[in-house]
Order: sequence, then C-alpha cells, then structure tokens
Amino acid sequence: MADELRFDGRVVIVTGAGGGLGRSHALLFGARGAKVVVNDLGGGAHGDGKSSAMADQVVEEIRAAGGEAVASYDSVEDGDKIVQAALDAFGRLDVVVNNAGILRDVSFHKMTDADWDLVYRVHVRGSYAVTKAAWPHLRDQEYGRVVMTASAAGIYGNFGQANYAMAKLGLTGFANTLAVEGRKRGVLVNTIAPIAGSRLTETVLPEELVRALDPAYVSPLVAWLCHESCEENGGLFEVGGGYFGKLRWERTAGKTYRVGRAITPEDVRSAWKTIVDFGASEHPGSINESMQPIMANLQRGPSKGGNQFIDVDEALGAELPEVRSSYDEKDVALYALGVGAGTDPVAPSELRLVYEMDAGFTALPTFGVIPALKVLMENAKNGIQAPGLNYGFDRLLHGEQYTELKRPLPRNAKLRHRAWIKDIFDKGEKGAVVVTAIESRDEQGDVLIYNESSAFIRGAGGWGGERGPASAGNEPPARAPDAVVEEHIPPHQALLYRLSSGDWNPLHADPAFAKAFGFDRPILHGLCTFGYAGRHVISKMAPEGDPRYFKSIKVRFAKNVYPGDTLVTEMWREGPQRVVFRCKVKARDEVVISNAAIELYESIPKKQEKPAAAPETAAAPAPSGPTSADIFAAIGILLSEQPGVGDKVGHAFQLALTDPESVWTIDVRSGNGAVAQGETVKPDCTLALSDADFMDMCTGKADAQKLYFGGQLKITGNVMASQKLGFLKKVTPEMVERAMKARGGASGASAAPAEAKPAAKPAREAAAPALFGKLKEARDVVGALGGKLQFRVTGPEAAWVVDAGAGTVEPGEAPDAAVTITIADEDLAALAAGGSARALFQHGKLRVDGDVRLAKNLEALSRLG
Ligand code: NAI
Repeated sequence: MADELRFDGRVVIVTGAGGGLGRSHALLFGARGAKVVVNDLGGGAHGDGKSSAMADQVVEEIRAAGGEAVASYDSVEDGDKIVQAALDAFGRLDVVVNNAGILRDVSFHKMTDADWDLVYRVHVRGSYAVTKAAWPHLRDQEYGRVVMTASAAGIYGNFGQANYAMAKLGLTGFANTLAVEGRKRGVLVNTIAPIAGSRLTETVLPEELVRALDPAYVSPLVAWLCHESCEENGGLFEVGGGYFGKLRWERTAGKTYRVGRAITPEDVRSAWKTIVDFGASEHPGSINESMQPIMANLQRGPSKGGNQFIDVDEALGAELPEVRSSYDEKDVALYALGVGAGTDPVAPSELRLVYEMDAGFTALPTFGVIPALKVLMENAKNGIQAPGLNYGFDRLLHGEQYTELKRPLPRNAKLRHRAWIKDIFDKGEKGAVVVTAIESRDEQGDVLIYNESSAFIRGAGGWGGERGPASAGNEPPARAPDAVVEEHIPPHQALLYRLSSGDWNPLHADPAFAKAFGFDRPILHGLCTFGYAGRHVISKMAPEGDPRYFKSIKVRFAKNVYPGDTLVTEMWREGPQRVVFRCKVKARDEVVISNAAIELYESIPKKQEKPAAAPETAAAPAPSGPTSADIFAAIGILLSEQPGVGDKVGHAFQLALTDPESVWTIDVRSGNGAVAQGETVKPDCTLALSDADFMDMCTGKADAQKLYFGGQLKITGNVMASQKLGFLKKVTPEMVERAMKARGGASGASAAPAEAKPAAKPAREAAAPALFGKLKEARDVVGALGGKLQFRVTGPEAAWVVDAGAGTVEPGEAPDAAVTITIADEDLAALAAGGSARALFQHGKLRVDGDVRLAKNLEALSRLG
C-alpha cells in the first residue's frame, strides 16, 4: 500500500497489552513497523495476581510476524518503570496507549473502599503514572501521541459501575487537559470509549456478541490517532463493532439573567423550559467557548431587575410575532351595538354607527382598540407571551388604555399588527405595570391605529425597579362639567359586548366564575365602558358629533361597572382639541373611568395619497399592477381613441373612491367625453366605493350589482344613469397597460396618468397659488370681479376668497360669498391665459353656485396673464 500509515522508527507503549484490546493494538502497531513495549501485569480481570505469560505471548506474536517488541510486566501504577523499559530497549518513546484496566463491578450500595480504590488505582493512577513518566520525553522531543481508554459507562453511567465510571470519565478530563497543555509541544492526546469482546465483557455480553465485537475493530482508530499525520487533539470517540464516531458537548442556549439583581430559585423554576431546551443549542469546544455567554452577560451591564414573573431585561422592548386581522362592516356595526349605540334607531347620529347602508356609515373610533385586543387574545390563545413575562392571565387587570387613530377607520380593512413591550413599571408590593404598544398598519403599510394597553399584574412587582410616572394626568378641573351624558346600560350588555368584541373572558358572562373572582355577578368589560364613554364625548364635543374628528382616547379603569348600571360621563373642554372626562356609576357615585381625555382633530384627516413615482419605501412598494388611476387613464384612452363609444351614454358620472380617497369624473355628456380627476362637472350620479372594490369591479373579480346590494357600492343621484356605465367594458387590458407605462415613464408624475388625453391631467405645478398671489397686487382686476367670490379649485385643491368691495384676496372660506366658482386648477390657468369662461361653463368645467351674473366677470382674470 503506497500510502500505508506506518510507524517505522516510532516507539509505542501499550499498557495491558497481554490480551483483549491492548493485544490487538500492539499487534497492529507491530505489524506497521513500530517498536512495541507490550506491558501487562498478567493478573486476573478483577486485579488479582500477576504473571509474565500474557505479555510474553504477545511479544512472541509480534516477532513471529516480523515485528519488534519487548515485554514489560510492571503494573501501570509503576509507570516510570514501563517508560524506562521503552527507553532501555529502544532509546526513545513516541506513543503511549493507556489501556490496562480491571473491573470491580458491584452496586454502589455494596461497593467497598477496596473496590473503589483499586479501580481508581489501575485506571486513573496507572494512566497518570505512565503518562507522567513519558511526558518529559514527549515534550522535549516536541512530538508525541497519547491515547486514554475511557468507557461509555463513564460518559452515560451504568449500573454497578460507579467506581469504573468515575475512573473512566476522570481519564477523559485528564486527556482534555493534556491536550491543551501538550498542543504547543506537538503532543496530541485523545480518548476512546471502546466496545469489544474481551474477558472484561464476556461476563456481561452474550457469547456471539463477544465474538462479533472483535477488538480488531477498535485498533484502527487507535493507530490513526497515534499516527504522525493525524492532527486530532482532545477528541473523544466511541468505537467498536465497525462503528467509529466522535462525541462533543452540546449546551442549550440557556437562560441569562443580568447580574446586579437577585436571582431566586423561583426564577430558575420559571425559566426551566428555556434552560433545558436544546432547540437552540451550541457546542462549546474549549474553556473560552464555555465562558462566552457568561462573559457576554457581564459585558451587558447591570440588570434593570425583575423577578420570577417579569424579567425586565428580557421583556422590555421585546416584540411579539406579527399578527394579521381584518374587519368588515358587520364587525364595525356589531361593535357599536356592543357599546350601546343604536338605542335610538332613527337618530341619524346613531344609525350611521350601526347601519352599514347609511350614507354616513362610520366606524365608532373606539373600535380601534378591537384589532389590538385581537392581537393580545390571539397570542394568549397560542400560548405566546413576550419573552421575560411569566405570569398567568389571572393576575392581569386592564389598567389603562390609549387608542389613537391616524385617520377615520375605514368601513373594512385588512391590518397587520406589530406589538412590543413598551414600558415596565414596578409598583412595589401590589404589582407591576406592563405597557404593550401595538401599531396596526393598513394594506398600504400606513399606520392606521396606535394602541397602548397598560396591564396591572397583581403581585408581580417589588424588585425595586422604576416606578413610572407618579400621576396619570387628565385630572378634571374644579368647575362644573361642560357637558354630561347619562345612559343606562342594559343588563344584557356584557353578553352582547363579548360577542361583538371577541373578548370572551367568562368573568363577563359566567356568574360562578365572577363569584370566584370576588364579584357578585358578571361585570361589564372595561373596554365596553370605554366605548360608551367615547361615544358620549364624541356626541357632545366633536363638531356636529362627527366621529371622524376623533384623534385619541386615554382612560384609566378605576372600578368595575355592572351591566344594568347607569353611567354618567362628565366632560370638560380643556383646549380647542382636548376634552377631559370621567365616568361614574350613578347609583354608587363611584368613579369608574378616571384620568381620561379625548383629543380631536382640527379637521377630518385624510389618507395621504402616495405619488406613484415617488421613491419606493419599504412600507409601501409602488404597486406592480394597475392602480385605479391607471384604469381612469385607460378610460380616457378609450374615449379619445374610439370616438362614438360614449355616444348614447349622455351622462356625467362621479366616482368617489375611498382607501385611498380620490374623486374622478367621467363626463360623457357631449363630444368624445372626458375623464378627469376631481369633480370637474356636476355629475348626474355618484358612485361611492372603496378603491379595492373598484379595482375588483374593473378586473371582473367583483360584480357591480352585488357590490351595490352588499352595501359596498353606493349610488346617489340618478341611479338609472349608472346603467349606462356598461361602455366601460370596452376598456382593454392593452389600454390599461399603456396607461401604466405612461405613469411609470413620466418622472414626478402624480397618481394621475400623464398620457390619458383628453382630460386626465399631466403632472404640472399648481397654478392657483401664483395666480391669486398676482391677483392680490392687481387691485383693478379684483375690482372688476365685482363682488365677493369664493373660489374652489380642484386638482390640487385650494380655496380662495376674492372680495371686490374690500379689495382683498385671501385663502380660505367665506360663507357669505355671493357666488362659489368651482374650477380645476388647470382650467383656472387657462382662464388667466385668456381662455373663455363661457366655453368652460358650457363644457361643464366651470361650476357656478350663487349669483351667476358674477361669473361673466371672470374673464377679467385674463388681465393677469
Ligand atoms: P482485558 O481485561 O482483556 O484487558 C485489560 C488488560 O489489562 C489485561 O490484559 C490485564 O492483565 C491488564 N492489566 C490489568 N491491570 C493491570 C495493571 N495494573 N498493570 C498492567 N496491566 C494490567 O480487557 P479489555 O476489554 O481489552 O480492556 C481494555 C481496556 O478497555 C480497559 O481499560 C477497559 O476498561 C477498556 N474498555 C473495554 C471495553 C470492552 O468492551 N471491552 C469497554 C470499555 C472500556
């Protein structure tokens, strides 16, 4: 064999080589050119007696095969003599195989000191003595190979082998350290845990197995580990019966508490699952690697504290897995019923909260807490708690709630929720406060709702941590409330609310359960009272009681309410957009909601439309498919390229889309017809629907009639005219594609496509600001306009008031204007450039409400050009 592993010139000691594994190793070394010292005491398997016969016989076998060997009859306890024998016979030493061994198997209960000591002496002390004597020679020559013989009994434990297991794993530790110390000197040390048929195993293993487990299946590993070309060091191997494998340590990722806080046995108990979880594990291979997590922990700095319920270091800032949810009109309306809306079923302000077909149908803003609640319930249901929080829900009380809407809630939505632990406060003996923040984004990736839920965790405080803000704020002023709403809560309200909110806690339905919690009967959900309160404040304090002005609500749940109680909401206007309020139960004169406030928007916020050509943001990638603007542009293409297609239509339509909001006019009253963004002419009928439903309708995914009867499509004005929209079917995918291309190609283009002629507008700068600016300076032109005119400019929107009498030009609204002129920004520019007001009027591009005579003065604007 050309690349045969040879040991020519090497001197090898194999202890206990008179039989079994040792003999097999010695024969292999001898056959491969080594000079072998065959050591064996020649005693019995239990450490009794001695003789030279066993060693001599193996020496003979090696010599007979053409090898070189000498015998050594010393006990391994006299290791120096064995080493000396090698030096005497061959003048050097390269390899030591510590193999000699005995057994004194007996259960620990019956084990004697002699059993323990003798096993220790042969295996541990013997391996030590031989290696100790050999070590200086190996070090000095900067070359050596050492093998220790351990056992599975030591690695895993085995009945009746306490002494033996101790010795064998002791050898493994011994070898591991020698491996570290010898490495630099070229001395490599490894350990084997063999299995072989020998006199040591013949008493415990069946005869055929003893025969099958030939020691010759172990020796090849020993030979390889002892070869000069093998660089393995500090390894532990299981070997036998044809199998060769390496062992290593595996350690769980474990649980780390920052130092600087008390760590109790209860902490360990509550972290036990994590401590023993091998799901995430590592394999430290050295003392340094072993110390790594400990050193890393020390570097993280002092702990923020915690106890067995709350580990602040771990929990604070931790994120919960993302959850998705959706709601529709039914959820919105049911929720409103759940918080007492609709008791006056004919009041428009009530009906719009519960009747999805109502023209003003609006979600009650406090519904914004429901998707957040779903996240928490969903997680709880799946047993998911933020890391570091280890308390049962029985300890949890909803303490405070803050809900903020970025804009009015759409009537239906698909949401993605991100929740994280925002704050943790230690309230001492009584408990702790855990604040969970939840951000809910719509399908465009815009934040729609932001919630903060503060939970009071009974008995979970007291680690000496941060106490949090001392006062909750929003204290009512001393004066009498500016408004009060009193409302009786029907006895079945909790039963209705639980179904409409998804909060199925039996505390609100099950009398026995409620009793067990110390209540006379089921209590009302805190968030149900929250909904009542929100409704009360909105009805009194929002402009015209319109819920769409709602910005945020903050409450503290002070005491529980029973279904059947009468709730009194007292409110104080504490700023133009801020209302402080509190709720009491009338009969008990108890404050049930305290430190509460509602903020209102100055004007109803709109969804921000994103320009199509704006740089992509991670939250809302530019749509890859067509947008509604593309569809309208394609309709424009249809009308301009197929004259006559709109001949029999004869109406103007307005499409009022929501989510995102946009208004489009399709005017097919005369000529080829035109499509434009904004309300360019007074339409015969208006179709209101969501952008998504409109797209589904155009792509055939949704049927207009079904949308109509499902309440998703509202038609106002001449409903019959909507029948004429059938011509839209003639828009081809190719037209839509061209419209999309046009959008992509026009740099800085707005959502309105650039190419869709004749009416869809190309991107251009708004003309109104500059025009009205000029008008301010042109007193004669202002005078020529002859009265007080309200200009409403569309695309982009602007409002200006020109008062000829006062000689003023101001942005804004004037309810006392004599006439309102509604005109698109680009048509206004055309007018200033000398365009005909009459022509615009006739084409429906100029709308005049009020004193029509003043409209003819508009052409004076051309003097600005
Ligand atoms: P074995 O009994 O055939 O070989 C051990 C040899 O060591 C014997 O020849 C014995 O005379 C010699 N010896 C005992 N005390 C001595 C001393 N004080 N000084 C010098 N020589 C001494 O048994 P086997 O199975 O070949 O065992 C070899 C090694 O492998 C032992 O360390 C044993 O513990 C270990 N081992 C064996 C396993 C097996 O399945 N055979 C399993 C695990 C470990």
